[in-house]
Amino acid sequence: MSKSFDVVVIGGGPGGYIAAIRAAQLGFTVACIDEWKNDKGGPAPGGTCTNVGCIPSKALLQSSEHYEHAGHAFAEHGIDVKGLSLNLGQMLKRKDTVVKQNNDGILYLFKKNKVSFFHGRGSFAQAAAGGYEIQVTGTASEVISAKHVVIATGSNARALPGAAFDEKLILSNTGALAIESVPKKLGVIGAGVIGLEMGSVWRRLGSEVTVLEALPTFLGAVDEQIAKEAHKLMSKQGLGINLGVKIGAITPSKKDVTVEYVDAAGAAHKAVFDKLIISIGRVPNTIGLNAEAVGLKLDERGFIAVDGDCKTSLPNVWAVGDVVRGPMLAHKAEEEGVAVAERIAGQHGHVNFNTIPWVIYTSPEIAWVGKTEQQLKAEGVAYKAGTFPFLANGRARALGDTSGMVKFLADAKSDEILGVHIVGPMASELISEAVVAMEFRASAEDIARICHAHPSLSEATKEAALAVDKRALNF
Ligand code: FAD
Ligand code: NAI
Repeated sequence: MSKSFDVVVIGGGPGGYIAAIRAAQLGFTVACIDEWKNDKGGPAPGGTCTNVGCIPSKALLQSSEHYEHAGHAFAEHGIDVKGLSLNLGQMLKRKDTVVKQNNDGILYLFKKNKVSFFHGRGSFAQAAAGGYEIQVTGTASEVISAKHVVIATGSNARALPGAAFDEKLILSNTGALAIESVPKKLGVIGAGVIGLEMGSVWRRLGSEVTVLEALPTFLGAVDEQIAKEAHKLMSKQGLGINLGVKIGAITPSKKDVTVEYVDAAGAAHKAVFDKLIISIGRVPNTIGLNAEAVGLKLDERGFIAVDGDCKTSLPNVWAVGDVVRGPMLAHKAEEEGVAVAERIAGQHGHVNFNTIPWVIYTSPEIAWVGKTEQQLKAEGVAYKAGTFPFLANGRARALGDTSGMVKFLADAKSDEILGVHIVGPMASELISEAVVAMEFRASAEDIARICHAHPSLSEATKEAALAVDKRALNF
């Protein structure tokens, strides 16, 4: 007799493992199948996010920022550092330790919540009476049965035609997080989130970084004023950002890789890089699911087709996270995982797409929620804007990081907050206040009337809200 479960989750990234835990909390018998292997071949649940995404990138961003501060910022604080040197091996080892702590944490959570974990690939065997049979192929092979299936198989890096990832010279995010010696010249194709975060890491560690972006605008999805400020600050730091380029042939040799491209002015270039990161977006991963066996529908871009509730074309089969439409963000995947588990339990799981925050963990950080000014203009919405620079914030001065600003966009009539955009120190933490406010449909005045601790960066948020009515106090 095969083992049978109320809910079987395929994929143990943030979408899958969170769905499994929430389903177990709701009283279901739950299995989670994940195939990710650590360097010893053992289980490493947590998906892209934990293994080659959010967590290791933030570990390296933190370490490289410490290195840059020790080299360039400490002196101003009266701290003289002599004999500063980089131990890249230790930096990468620490990153791997942080990843393992997260892998182990998820295995512990599975035990605590009585989720049965299967290390291997899960694929549809067939529909069976009242559910589905799922083939697990790993160290052992077995078939388990499920009343409900949640697919959370994530995404993979998109390759450029003719430039397959070898993870030695041509790197996806996986290779970009594990370069063993600092490349003298690093090329990055795509000035999106990964390109800017990974470009920042290696620039801080000493690489000369050239970023090649196809679009003529920098961070087109970001509020224009914020993107412009970020562009200025990152260029000043030495990140070589080239917009509007057309990539031609990419030719790896034994030691380096040549990229031919035409710049925005039409001039042809041949650049030679020691390493090349390609970060031009990600594609949904349905490899090995055997979706055809049960007739699961994909959309025209290869995502699993789902409705607003994450229901697929098949009864009792759900899909969440990067493998379905919407932003490819860990917290979006988690919210969908929770909502699906609750819907399976007959509850009203809910994900508010209007209040999903975005963060780019460069220095300064960029974070936003809601509409940009260009979106509001395009939609013909009458709005008021208020900005406040960190230059006028006491805590930012004390920190020694006064770059950037907070910007509020509020409805011209009702004053409801429509968007909040931040470029500056700790933007990733500051944005939470805006998310809460928008979730409660607060007005800019609500934030302006709340007492914020002094001195704190969050005072810049209050001041930007005050600035919506042209009554900022400190600027
Ligand atoms: P994944 O995390 O991709 O997990 C899918 C899991 O399913 C994997 O473990 C995979 O091995 C497994 N799997 C696939 N097929 C099968 C199968 N058939 N059987 C068994 N297992 C299977 N997002 C943020 O919100 N914040 C960040 O700071 C951030 N930083 C990022 C940095 C980088 C470099 C990258 C690449 C991404 C980053 N992201 C970030 C995006 C984030 O990683 C993804 O949005 C998130 O991981 C999606 O979660 P998921 O559960 O849908 O899929
Ligand atoms: P992205 O979509 O953020 O950026 C890709 C960039 O590549 C775009 O600017 C695009 O115009 C450009 N591009 C596409 N084709 C090109 C070509 N042929 N030549 C030159 N440029 C080209 O994708 P990225 O950076 O790969 O990241 C994938 C996703 O992972 C992100 O969209 C995000 O959802 C997630 N992520 C989130 C992070 C966070 O939340 N902090 C961090 C890293 C990734």
